[in-house]
Amino acid sequence: MASKQVILVTGGAGFIGSHVVRRLVNRYPNYEVVNLDVLTYAGNLENLKDLESAPNYRFVKGDITDEAFVNQLFAEEHFDGIIHLAAESHVDRSITTPLAFVQTNVMGTANLLNAARKQWEASFQGKLFYHVSTDEVYGSLGKEGLFTETTSYDPRSPYSASKASSDHLVRAYWHTYGLPIVISNCSNNYGPNQFPEKLIPLCINNIRKSLPLPIYGKGENVRDWLYVEDHATAIDLVYHQGKHGETYNIGGHNEWTNIDLVRQLCAIMDTKLGREAGTSAQLITFVKDRAGHDLRYAIDAAKIEQELGWTPSLQFEEGLTKTVDWYLANQTWLDNITSGDYQGYYEQQYHSR
Ligand code: NAD
Ligand code: DAU
Repeated sequence: MASKQVILVTGGAGFIGSHVVRRLVNRYPNYEVVNLDVLTYAGNLENLKDLESAPNYRFVKGDITDEAFVNQLFAEEHFDGIIHLAAESHVDRSITTPLAFVQTNVMGTANLLNAARKQWEASFQGKLFYHVSTDEVYGSLGKEGLFTETTSYDPRSPYSASKASSDHLVRAYWHTYGLPIVISNCSNNYGPNQFPEKLIPLCINNIRKSLPLPIYGKGENVRDWLYVEDHATAIDLVYHQGKHGETYNIGGHNEWTNIDLVRQLCAIMDTKLGREAGTSAQLITFVKDRAGHDLRYAIDAAKIEQELGWTPSLQFEEGLTKTVDWYLANQTWLDNITSGDYQGYYEQQYHSR
């Protein structure tokens, strides 16, 4: 059994964070898992309802950008490790409100790094700051090639630039202070609990309501999709076995153009909803492209596969079907988060396209 430790997970009420928290709580009963989340529009405690009474789980509401709060939390608690996922995560929102991304992703990460350094400075032995990042820091690929851990950074949206800045800060704390760190850069995740501003849940929600499916540009952009639980498994492995100071790329070997992906989703939804084949695909609507839209992301995951023995467990069709099943079984979850603020966001984002 892994020895006792207290782990702080930031952003644990969000999409990926909730799967990471669940995995840690269920797999390591002698760990204390503390979930720190400020509960933005993307944070939802409903995602963790099943863990409410777990004895090794605690939720703390708080803001990683609040320096005094973060310092006090670190002074009161004795964290052995931090898995940092809290972030503003949606590229389209970063185009309309870039400063929020700088504030949370850059300043928030800097606050956590500083608090960890101060709290742990007597001895870094047994401590780890794990920063969860994105493949978008590497920029945009042409039709060929894959991102490796040594690909130069070339972020092109305010979101990816803010994540790249946070990665640089994390490495700076490793080189300058010797803070034990590890970073992973993952491709596009999909699965249960993803906020319906992102392509797959947005389309699932619109298909069930027979609303247009907005495809940016010609739908030719390519993303490499990974089922969220496979990402959580990789995070668990990197946290426990990753070499300190290193970066691990995580990806699905699963590249799809947006239009092909949405067509596949439409076919699955037609079957699930008992609609005639081809019905949902008629909702596909090409709209104005995203500003600075990266053409293609694709990950070379050889390092994590060879060094840590990780591979994705699900084929895409199976993962997409599980995802659709989850959203159809949790329509109240979807209805709750698409009421209120979401309507305003959706109008602003899509009405004029
Ligand atoms: P998400 O938007 O679903 O969740 C983010 C969470 O962070 C929310 O619960 C939110 O309330 C919380 N948060 C935001 N600002 C905060 C603050 N100031 N203080 C405390 N909590 C705050 O995001 P996600 O898609 O789950 O992504 C999680 C992490 O993984 C992010 O760092 C993201 O960059 C990274 N990532 C995401 C993907 C993906 O495909 N979604 C892929 C690779 C990496
Ligand atoms: O690559 C990892 C990144 O993947 C993460 O770091 C981000 O947090 C996550 O949001 C995701 O970024 P993308 O911009 O790739 O994901 P999104 O779901 O927003 O878009 C996927 C693709 O679909 C992208 O090419 C844009 C396109 N798209 C998206 C939306 C929301 C559309 O065509 N129409 C849409 O309405």
